[in-house]
Amino acid sequence: MPTKNQPIRRQPGWLDNAIFYEIYPQSFCDSNGDGIGDFEGIISKLDYIKELGCNAIWMNPCFESPFGDAGYDVSDYCKAAPRYGTNEDLKRLFGEVHKRDMHILLDLVPGHTSVEHKWFKESMKAEKNEFTDRYIWTDSVWEEPVGYGSLRGISDRDGSCAVNFFTHQPALNYGYYKPDRPWQQSIDSPGAIATREALKDIMRFWLGMGCDGFRVDMAGSLVKQDEDSKGTIALWQNIREFLDEEFPDAAMVSEWGEPDKSLQGGFHMDFLLHFGPSHYNDLFRCEEPFFSDRGKGDISEFVAKYKENYEKSERKGLICIPSGNHDMDRLARSIHDDNLKIAFAFLLSMPGAPFIYYGDEIGMRYVEGLTSVEGGFSRTGSRSPMQWDDTTNAGFSSAPKESLYIKLDESKDRPTAKAQMADESSLRSEIKRLIEIRQSHPALMNKGEIEFVYAEKGAYPLAYLRSSGDEKILVILNPADRETDFECDYALGEEVYSFGGKVQKQGKKIAVPAKTAAFIEV
Ligand code: NOJ
Ligand code: CA
Repeated sequence: MPTKNQPIRRQPGWLDNAIFYEIYPQSFCDSNGDGIGDFEGIISKLDYIKELGCNAIWMNPCFESPFGDAGYDVSDYCKAAPRYGTNEDLKRLFGEVHKRDMHILLDLVPGHTSVEHKWFKESMKAEKNEFTDRYIWTDSVWEEPVGYGSLRGISDRDGSCAVNFFTHQPALNYGYYKPDRPWQQSIDSPGAIATREALKDIMRFWLGMGCDGFRVDMAGSLVKQDEDSKGTIALWQNIREFLDEEFPDAAMVSEWGEPDKSLQGGFHMDFLLHFGPSHYNDLFRCEEPFFSDRGKGDISEFVAKYKENYEKSERKGLICIPSGNHDMDRLARSIHDDNLKIAFAFLLSMPGAPFIYYGDEIGMRYVEGLTSVEGGFSRTGSRSPMQWDDTTNAGFSSAPKESLYIKLDESKDRPTAKAQMADESSLRSEIKRLIEIRQSHPALMNKGEIEFVYAEKGAYPLAYLRSSGDEKILVILNPADRETDFECDYALGEEVYSFGGKVQKQGKKIAVPAKTAAFIEV
């Protein structure tokens, strides 16, 4: 299966102006008072998401699972987890989303399953069967697959099974790019091909039911011993071919973090992540983040890497920068007050589809000191129930406090959606304005071009030009608590957005007041 030099795919039209909202279903809205969010609860909040201006949703895994990793340990790919509702309820959710002119991506976990998946149970058997090669097994329990950790000593089968993440998540077998042990299968071995075809069946099942595509978990991890990802790229190209034939409109977003590879694999978009080479953490999550008001951050390495990826992805808006997600510390753990607004002015003026993690729009905090829930560990504090209003359990659930899925933020001044919707100066209102501005200026939208104007080492502000056709908008962001300046030749025209102070130009020099964001036509 050689890698093809594939052009980047035509995107489904709706991705051109998609603004995503990530829903962690456990914690979003509980409709039946059992302490855990569900599909019906999500349906009841679709208007809230739409009102904010988001027109697309990524929902974390909602499939049957023992929940050792919050659902990233699937035991039945084609069955909704009963705690969220039935497949029929999920289908209804798709319909309700579409009725509002929105789209929804499910979370596809192709790299591993739960140990409770029937495929794994069959593959543990000593007798050969259809699932013997569904996972990566060595041929003796005394030999471990190098590098990935393993599950061993629990099966009649003599062998150790490779794992992909936690040790209860056995790795599915898509083959080795360069097999060098007898038990390592090649990417075109019957076992590896059967796994790939089974993955297509899962996609067929949900796309047929009406979902619009997938966010793909650990998309770059599938083929093993695959240094340059050539095997994994070829695998995804094969899957894209199947989609092109059967579901040409299916949107694919990868958790890969290396757009030069994922886009070649046929994904429409890739995320920048808190791991990998992107320098994403320099923005919001390091000792001195660029968007902190201390003004001691450094944006230059992020920008250098971004530019490199942007060129490699043919200057198309395909790189998604999330506000956060269920694996990262909440944005509000390190960025505060006005700086959250400036951080969103950045997120909502960059190319690629923005992703807003539920609750980030109201500055929900990281809940400190929680005991791990369902394999969350330090991530648990970023997964607490959505704070809707000031009623019982912040309007998340009518269950007794002790039976909530994760404890709520108990602070008296915790932000709520209701209060922020009523307050013109709230973070949520600012984000709503920013989204409106983005959606009414093609230059600011997902596929508008970007050129960095000022992004110097250790310096502020950050300035970049977004453009589409004749429209050119200069974005200037100064999160620092001091006035800064930079030089540029553009004559400043009308201000389409401003937050903080007034940007002034004298000669070539543009002075930017402390904690200011401005989008100016040039
Ligand atoms: C990435 C997911 O976002 C994370 O939550 C999960 O634990 C791992 N992949 C394993 O599936
Ligand atoms: Ca519920």
